[in-house]
Amino acid sequence: MKALAGFRELYPEEALRRGVILSTWRRVARCYGFEEYDGPTLEPLDLYSKKNAGGEEILGQLYRFEDGGGRQVALRPEMTPSLARMAASKEKHYRKPMKWFAIGNFFRFERQQRGRLREFIQLNCDILGDAGPDADAELVAFAIDAMRGFGLRSEDFVVRLSHRKAWTSFLEAHGLSGKQIPGVLQIVDKLERDAPEVLEEKLTAVGLSLSQVKDFIKGPPPPELHHVIGNLTSRGLGDFFEVDLSIVRGLAYYTGLVFEVFDRSKSLRALAGGGRYDALVSGLSDGAVDLPAVGFGMGDVVLGNFISEVPHAEALMQTRLAEARALDVYVIVADEARRPEALRVIQSLRDAGLTTDAGLSPSKVGKQFQAAELAHAKFAVVVGSEWPSLKVKRMATRAESEVPYGELAEWLKNPQA
Ligand code: HAM
Repeated sequence: MKALAGFRELYPEEALRRGVILSTWRRVARCYGFEEYDGPTLEPLDLYSKKNAGGEEILGQLYRFEDGGGRQVALRPEMTPSLARMAASKEKHYRKPMKWFAIGNFFRFERQQRGRLREFIQLNCDILGDAGPDADAELVAFAIDAMRGFGLRSEDFVVRLSHRKAWTSFLEAHGLSGKQIPGVLQIVDKLERDAPEVLEEKLTAVGLSLSQVKDFIKGPPPPELHHVIGNLTSRGLGDFFEVDLSIVRGLAYYTGLVFEVFDRSKSLRALAGGGRYDALVSGLSDGAVDLPAVGFGMGDVVLGNFISEVPHAEALMQTRLAEARALDVYVIVADEARRPEALRVIQSLRDAGLTTDAGLSPSKVGKQFQAAELAHAKFAVVVGSEWPSLKVKRMATRAESEVPYGELAEWLKNPQA
């Protein structure tokens, strides 16, 4: 029986790659002063169907079912509604702004396509309790540095910035009512996917034309983005972003800045996306808590594909994989009669915090050296007739030393030439 389509089975080499992605995300998050949190994987269905949470598209992609107690539940398709609920219920406990990040599994019943799976991992970074554009810029800078953490450069990727308030002003100036705006933004969201005739027809129905919309997109950066642009430029990140008003984002809750990260050649789906959502916490808490918020999500699937396609990013990945794989010591049992002593050595090295492995059953010394090689061991320690003295071999240079058992761990931590 096969695994379900869109769900991954990660064998060790793939799990190791994913481990590098997650540890890089965590390192950048700590670097920006964010704290880690997590929420439930299974949520009440209402969390997503409630007004303003998510959007039409994501509702159609829910894994939803009735649990054993007759409750309507859904596997989380995104973090933001859970975060908004968590923030609303304990907001008073935390100093503002709350800079929080989470790494977890998400589920969407997506159409099969490259870069999109039905279970994926997302890094979510959000700042709650700060309504200013500097918080917006901090998040965009974070998204840029998360990408740079993988060795990706400004010639490889770009953050596209846009602003929903700029769209609202434009649409209101063309006589559209507040109620019509979400519908038009849905049309704009499909600008690159839908045929021009389809777009024209949909826009004409609300009194707009495709050329009006395209002219607005081609126009100068709207005033709503000036501060964020200035902030990012001061950081020296000017090469990493562009204004692109065709970005409106599919999720309904965004109220201000919206942005997406793309590969420069735009051959892949979005690597990350986010924006400001100042009304979601209030909406989900029925008005009890009003907390402005901004954040983004970055998935591991497109990112993983992208890294493997960019040679300098893949080279850095290989270095990190080698570091992650490296074993300090492989213990070789040269004389089976000394296995009890070898076990003592293994245990003492592990106790000393050295990563240590050894064969579980008797085999020829040559085979054990091969195993040490395959395990990427830095040192082989040979337990044999010289006990309590041990032969230590540096695998890279083949240089050998004799070290007494009592000094072994210290020696390995500060190896002599
Ligand atoms: P999103 O644009 O739906 O935003 O997802 C963010 C990222 O998650 C995407 O750019 C993509 O990398 C990844 N992703 C989404 N769906 C899939 C999938 N089916 N397979 C693989 N990767 C996927 C959100 O989820 C917002 N909640 C982000 C956010 C956080 N906004 C504010 N705070």
